[in-house]
Amino acid sequence: MQKESIWITGASGKIGKAIMNRLKKQVDYRVVGTDLDVDITDQDAVEQSMDVYRPNIVINCASLSDAYYCEDHMIEAFRVNALGARNLAAACRQHNAKLIHLSTDDVFCGDGSHGKTEFDVPTPRTVYGKSKLAGENFVKELTPKHLIIRSSWVYGGKGDYISSILEKAERGEEITAPLDQISSPTSTEELAHFIEVMLDKKEYGIYHASCEGACTRHEYARTILHLAGYDPNLEHGTYNEKDGAIATTLLENLMLKMTGIYDMPPWREELERYMGKYIKND
Ligand SMILES: NC(=O)c1ccc[n+]([C@@H]2O[C@H](COP(=O)([O-])OP(=O)(O)OC[C@H]3O[C@@H](n4cnc5c(N)ncnc54)[C@H](OP(=O)(O)O)[C@@H]3O)[C@@H](O)[C@H]2O)c1
Repeated sequence: MQKESIWITGASGKIGKAIMNRLKKQVDYRVVGTDLDVDITDQDAVEQSMDVYRPNIVINCASLSDAYYCEDHMIEAFRVNALGARNLAAACRQHNAKLIHLSTDDVFCGDGSHGKTEFDVPTPRTVYGKSKLAGENFVKELTPKHLIIRSSWVYGGKGDYISSILEKAERGEEITAPLDQISSPTSTEELAHFIEVMLDKKEYGIYHASCEGACTRHEYARTILHLAGYDPNLEHGTYNEKDGAIATTLLENLMLKMTGIYDMPPWREELERYMGKYIKND
């Protein structure tokens, strides 16, 4: 049987690395990962890489994902998140490759009391969210064999939210987290597993893939402290949104539920599993 050839961009980022780790163990796949060595904003570099790697599937994890940085660097944010996605989509179309493109709950503006489905109209409020939506639109317009996967509050790997909370606790620093931001923490490993399941499925379009249930950042931070053996009371809740608003960016995994392809686990259960595996509790 011929091996699937997979090109992962942003392969040393949080999600890219988890997918690499998962797929490189499988004999059925020939996987190549790139980062800034193939700048996705460079159309020629993308086309040359397609010629060299000849992938059946491209997984685009390359992104400018720091929302605060994006707010102050709009051109750079759109160049990577929108033009980069455009370059990959056009190249995938030309080579008849499937494009799996990672996106975010930030394409919604955070005003929802209910979970947003794949059929809700995105109305981003941040530069990051707008640039990611522009990337999604290029993907939809330029290549029919695409899968857009949106997730939220992704943890796992160096520099993630869990590490930042635990480093502060270790140093005895003050820890604060917003009481007025609500979403669903989701692990890179769960996302990587879901993406592996989708590789050989003839499923196209947008899929939401967040862990089930929701919490405030405050509850999330306290749960991390508790699971790592620290006193949860080390963390204090703050209010970050203006005028008493609550920023809720809940994704409803409606496509997953309708197709029955994959069950995302409850966020707390997955966080417990992850922390039990990677974080020492002494
Ligand atoms: N993290 C989350 O909470 C979250 C939630 C929902 C959705 N997502 C989505 O998931 C995807 C991956 O996120 P992540 O958290 O894994 O991001 P990440 O850790 O910041 O990784 C992004 C990777 O892209 C690389 N990159 C940046 N600009 C590039 C360019 N021009 N060409 C090639 N590579 C480039 C980065 O390289 P350098 O580090 O060397 O710059 C980095 O390795 C993104 O689409 C993001 O929107 C993330």
